[in-house]
Amino acid sequence: MASLSMMKLCHLSFFYFMLICMIVVSVSSFQFEVGGERGWIKPTGNETETYNEWATQNRFHVGDTLYFGYKKDSVLLVNSTSYNNCTVSNPISKFENGSTKFRFDRYGIFYFISGQPDNCKAGQKLIVRVMVHPMFISPQPAPSPQTKGSGDGDDWDPFNWGPPSMSSTLKMSVASCLIISLGGMLVLFSSY
Ligand SMILES: *[C@@H]1O[C@H](CO)[C@@H](O)[C@H](O)[C@H]1NC(C)=O
Ligand SMILES: *[C@@H]1O[C@H](CO)[C@@H](O)[C@H](O)[C@H]1NC(C)=O
Ligand SMILES: *[C@@H]1O[C@H](CO)[C@@H](O)[C@H](O)[C@H]1NC(C)=O
Ligand SMILES: *[C@@H]1O[C@H](CO)[C@@H](O)[C@H](O)[C@H]1NC(C)=O
Repeated sequence: MASLSMMKLCHLSFFYFMLICMIVVSVSSFQFEVGGERGWIKPTGNETETYNEWATQNRFHVGDTLYFGYKKDSVLLVNSTSYNNCTVSNPISKFENGSTKFRFDRYGIFYFISGQPDNCKAGQKLIVRVMVHPMFISPQPAPSPQTKGSGDGDDWDPFNWGPPSMSSTLKMSVASCLIISLGGMLVLFSSY
């Protein structure tokens, strides 16, 4: 009898740990604003960074979202062939209402181009490599956040996008949470 209620307690605490893990994980998704304040526009040639340079400096995970803001334009999700050729016909998905939130529902590579072939050829295209959720990888140091308030005029630079960075403490807590849960599971199994 005693061992039975002990087991119940184990189950209960295990599920609580999993619940906490899920809450922590759901809190740790981010929205990235493509193009910063200027949004998803045809590059003028004046930018400090291309879309892809920006993308390689950030870490994208399953569950994160990209925000595209644009006018008289569109966002196409395409395959690599269409990406390379700026082919706008038959995209995988097309978004054109000016305000698009795209959530990564899988890991892998996503190719985005402008629906205007000329804009695409001018560099309005973006490759995003999406990784599995940080819960499943070892903690990484977060990129240093954008320094704020260093000269007001600097704020305008549209390509100096502050990367939303998850604090390494949060990643640590996610990792340790997982380890604790796994430990709990082991205890549970060994008690059978
Ligand atoms: C590039 O930036 C300079 C100064 O900010 C501006 O005078 C010029 O018009 C810009 N060129 C383009 C193509 O936007
Ligand atoms: C893509 O472009 C290459 C060279 O520019 C061309 O050979 C190829 O046929 C194009 N593919 C498609 C699907 O348009
Ligand atoms: C990529 O998409 C284009 C347009 O839908 C299609 O014609 C082409 O066959 C696709 N290529 C691959 C490798 O799937
Ligand atoms: C655009 O469409 C998305 C859903 O596809 C919706 O959530 C969003 O509110 C729409 N935005 C506008 C400005 O209509």
